[in-house]
Amino acid sequence: MQARLPQGEQPVLRIIPMPADTNAHGTIFGGWVMAQVDLAGSVPAYERAQGPIVTVAVNSFLFKEPVFVGDLVSFYARVVKVGRTSITVDVEVFAQRGRDGRTDAVKVTEAQLTYVAIDADRKPRPIPGGPQWA
Ligand SMILES: CC(C)(COP(=O)(O)OP(=O)(O)OC[C@H]1O[C@@H](n2cnc3c(N)ncnc32)[C@H](O)[C@@H]1OP(=O)(O)O)[C@@H](O)C(=O)NCCC(=O)NCCS
Repeated sequence: MQARLPQGEQPVLRIIPMPADTNAHGTIFGGWVMAQVDLAGSVPAYERAQGPIVTVAVNSFLFKEPVFVGDLVSFYARVVKVGRTSITVDVEVFAQRGRDGRTDAVKVTEAQLTYVAIDADRKPRPIPGGPQWA
């Protein structure tokens, strides 16, 4: 299903998958997408935490459409909740099949992950500015 890229928002990550990233069916391996989503979500989480974070949970993950070799894949991530030590991020992933400017994007994945800010002992530390809902 065709979709518009989010307007007025920049992707935190854009990448083109290669043949080495495929599964046995020839489409892109779900684990590859999950790894990129984890990285993408960490971008705003790290900024909000102002320092090191770790992923504590993948709350939801939906593969809506396949990703193909050569797609231009864009990851959009936004903080939706800040707890005492945790930050929850929604990630949306869009693929542009043709990369010729004529092809609309396809929304391929949506996910929500939670990260925890950690201190030098790898223990949870308070998020600067305190809890908030986005
Ligand atoms: C993340 C980690 C530091 C949390 O340590 P902990 O002692 O269990 O911390 P807490 O129980 O105090 O929880 C910390 C925060 O995580 C949140 N949290 C814990 N489990 C959660 C879950 N299943 N889903 C969502 N949030 C969760 C808590 O609600 C808390 O948030 P808050 O302070 O904003 O309320 C620890 O579990 C860890 O190191 N895990 C491994 C992380 C890692 O290596 N990730 C990479 C994957 S290999």
